[in-house]
Amino acid sequence: MRVLVTGGAGFIGANFVRSTLATRPDVEITVLDKFTYAANPRTLEPVAGAITVVRGDIGDAALVDPLVAAHDLVVNFAAESHNDNSLTDPSSFVDTNLVGTYTLLESVRRHRTALHHISTDEVYGDLDLDDPERFTEATAYNPSSPYSATKAGSDLLVRAWVRSFGITATISNCSNNYGPYQHVEKLIPRQITNVLTGVRPKVYGDGANVRDWIHVADHNDAVWTIIDRGEPGQTYLIGADGEVDNRTVVEDILDLMGQPTDAFDFVTDRPGHDRRYAIDSTRLRTELGWTPRFTDFRSGLADTIDWYRNHSDWWEPVKSGVEASYAKTQQTL
Ligand code: NAD
Ligand code: DAU
Repeated sequence: MRVLVTGGAGFIGANFVRSTLATRPDVEITVLDKFTYAANPRTLEPVAGAITVVRGDIGDAALVDPLVAAHDLVVNFAAESHNDNSLTDPSSFVDTNLVGTYTLLESVRRHRTALHHISTDEVYGDLDLDDPERFTEATAYNPSSPYSATKAGSDLLVRAWVRSFGITATISNCSNNYGPYQHVEKLIPRQITNVLTGVRPKVYGDGANVRDWIHVADHNDAVWTIIDRGEPGQTYLIGADGEVDNRTVVEDILDLMGQPTDAFDFVTDRPGHDRRYAIDSTRLRTELGWTPRFTDFRSGLADTIDWYRNHSDWWEPVKSGVEASYAKTQQTL
């Protein structure tokens, strides 16, 4: 099977490439990635000989079209992925998440290549902390940020291309991922690397916001489950019952790193900050037989801390720039 992995140099896409190479000898991989600030070229270096890497934009139709034609399947991880960035400059989010997905869809339509589109639980907006409901495939879209609005739009484009043009596509909407190779702008790597560099972790607002954590390896196993056994045209939610509030995540990191659990600062809240995400992944589990393997969050967190401790060469070059950028908008409360 020839698979075009768009965004394959980013956090989840690169983990997908590496785990696929390790488990699926029948799969040939091409990565198409723009290598934005979010891609660390070092991530794919150890597997460079086993894949083809094309540097380019999913919105570049002339580049995309022959690539899509030469593959059996496109797995689209490419996106601008960080909410905070979408609040300071949304333009690249519209370009990549909307126009880029549209460009892929037109090539997929032309060449009848299959598509799996990677999306997020954020398309559903947020839940109250005490709401007994969780998101399901039937929940109405209600995105809050420019990031989640452009992801929601990309999902709707995929659905329209399925219905109007009969393309073969599936969509997955996953909750918050953690694990190795995640950019230090995101909550968990930011706080681990803060502690490693002697900086106090930063918690937005009151720290009560809840995210539903899943290990990146479980996400990618679920993606392959959907590619292998999912029904064309359908959407599947991916989640591992990992709801934890942000303050607890940071206290756990501090505890696991041998620091006092109150050695963090509350900082300026994110505008429009979604309160809680929670996924009901019953459909994926019952219809397709997927189950997560990393169900002990503290243990997954401990492994992730070890990974960042042992790979400072991977994150150190970008750490100070990320913190300098955050310092422009975030003050200690
Ligand atoms: P990331 O920011 O780490 O990686 C994104 C990758 O896409 C980077 O390698 C970047 O260079 C590439 N890219 C950006 N614009 C591009 C363009 N125009 N053309 C080609 N490549 C481009 O993101 P991630 O966290 O790995 O997320 C991957 C996908 O998973 C995204 O679609 C995101 O919405 C979705 N998702 C992420 C999470 C999460 O917790 N991180 C959860 C659910 C869904
Ligand atoms: O739910 C899936 C989404 O998860 C994905 O679609 C996004 O691509 C991914 O970035 C992630 O979005 P979040 O906005 O939830 O992730 P982030 O790591 O930015 O923040 C997680 C929570 O932690 C959120 O409530 C904001 C808070 N936060 C974040 C940072 C960076 C802090 O309290 N302090 C921080 O320093």
